[in-house]
Amino acid sequence: MSTYRLLFLALLFLFVNSSFAAAVELNVISFGAKADGSTDSTKAFLAAWAHACGSTKPATINVPKGTFLLRNVDFSGQCNNNAITIRIDGTLVAPADYRVFENANNWISFQNVDGVSIFGGILDGKGTGLWACKNSGKDCPSGATSLSFSNSKNVFIIGLTSLNSQMFHIVINGCQNVKMQEVKVSAAGNSPNTDGIHVQLSSSVTILNSRIQTGDDCVSIGPGATNLWMENIACGPGHGISIGSLGKDQNEAGVLNVTVKTATFLGTQNGVRIKSWARPSNGFARNIVFQHVVMKNVQNPIVIDQNYCPGNKNCPGQVSGVKVSDVTYQDIHGTSATEVAVKFDCSSKYPCTGIRLEDVKLTYKNEAAEASCNHAGGTTSGVVKPTSCL
Ligand SMILES: *[C@@H]1O[C@H](CO)[C@@H](O)[C@H](O)[C@H]1NC(C)=O
Repeated sequence: MSTYRLLFLALLFLFVNSSFAAAVELNVISFGAKADGSTDSTKAFLAAWAHACGSTKPATINVPKGTFLLRNVDFSGQCNNNAITIRIDGTLVAPADYRVFENANNWISFQNVDGVSIFGGILDGKGTGLWACKNSGKDCPSGATSLSFSNSKNVFIIGLTSLNSQMFHIVINGCQNVKMQEVKVSAAGNSPNTDGIHVQLSSSVTILNSRIQTGDDCVSIGPGATNLWMENIACGPGHGISIGSLGKDQNEAGVLNVTVKTATFLGTQNGVRIKSWARPSNGFARNIVFQHVVMKNVQNPIVIDQNYCPGNKNCPGQVSGVKVSDVTYQDIHGTSATEVAVKFDCSSKYPCTGIRLEDVKLTYKNEAAEASCNHAGGTTSGVVKPTSCL
């Protein structure tokens, strides 16, 4: 072989090696983490993150089996690569005493990252102490969200379990292109403010094959959620899937293009809900589809409530400015736990328009349920029971 040829092959080898290099593998144990459930491993996780984030090559952080105690921790970008994988075989546990967090809003938070994937893992938020405080009516901190992504893009969360969060389990805020799959959320049915997944100011968020049992909303969708897709979602206990509360502020981003496809609600307070404050606002909810939904013993299976004003306080004029339009309910079956299974209570100033009911069949105690409409317009097709009031 000629020298030139050898040189060429050597260069080719170097090139291939650097551009398709295996990910940098990091193990939190080698950064000092202890899988004993009681040693504070926060610094070790942060050190592993600093390596992964600083690496110019893709990096994988491995969290082996065992229980790792973590305080509130921020994993921030910008990073030098856009392929960080966090593979969790073990459990991350929050301090049992909620006062340790002081007033932190988040337990595990990612900010300004691009291309972070989390595979597996159990997050145990140890929320029961804070719930007891809140349920006793004492003055308590509002609590921390267990896992939060903000101002980030290209995020994948697969096979993660969140247990007993203090506040929300998972929050997606200001993000683009987020996929969540096979996520499990579990907290007591009477745990306060423990929304399963909250999405706001984010686009192209997908939630697939996930099961959420909690004390508040299964999925809550805040202002500025666009192109949100949820498929194969099981909810209950909890308050159901809720778009809103919207319209708390005068200037607010709208909710656009949200699909819920194939979902079951078991004993929840609501099924599919759109909710807005009875306050002036330029917000809106438009192009919403709820499709192939089974309700079992749900208190309010289908509901639009635009007259939300807790304690009748701070709602000047008591009319919602939020415009709700083009909402489709298609193939929704099952049982209501109350007589009124379909309730559209829209804004008197901006009535709901383009509501479509198609193949809806909801019963109450084996009899026809009722529908109630205020300022709601739209069409029906197929079998619709209770008889539409649109
Ligand atoms: C609506 O959102 C879905 C993803 O959830 C996307 O595929 C689709 O293109 C969006 N539709 C429009 C009109 O933007």
